[in-house]
Amino acid sequence: MKILVINGPNLNMLGIREPDIYGKQDFDALQKYIRECADALSLKVTLFQSNHEGEIVDVIQAAYGVYDGIVINPAAYTHTSVAILDALKAVGIPTVEVHLSDVNSREEFRRHSFVSLVAKKTIAGLGFEGYRQALEYFA
Ligand code: DQA
Repeated sequence: MKILVINGPNLNMLGIREPDIYGKQDFDALQKYIRECADALSLKVTLFQSNHEGEIVDVIQAAYGVYDGIVINPAAYTHTSVAILDALKAVGIPTVEVHLSDVNSREEFRRHSFVSLVAKKTIAGLGFEGYRQALEYFA
């Protein structure tokens, strides 16, 4: 089973960015963790990160007919992007949404997610473990 893991803007700044919220481990550590989890679950993963909404839309469109599942942390685009929601709807690939932090216990604007409208499941507030649970959903 082939899974595309998409991380949105500023997640490449993990370790530097608000460590009290997102933890001290960096983005390389997250990618290594995701690869190890995928191996343990016998899933093939492709990892993609972008700070650009259109690039994320492009990679979702290109996933059509190629991937069996998408794990996405759309980061700030979670709360703003109808384009990412529409791309996920267009390809119809089962999607699990992940957030490192507990978006529901932070600022009001983080409580709304466009991606949740299409996601089979949303996992928030578990740090790196959320990605493991998302992969486990597909396994
Ligand atoms: C995030 C939560 C978002 O609100 C925020 O904009 C992010 C990261 C998370 O993983 O907790 O960049 O998606």
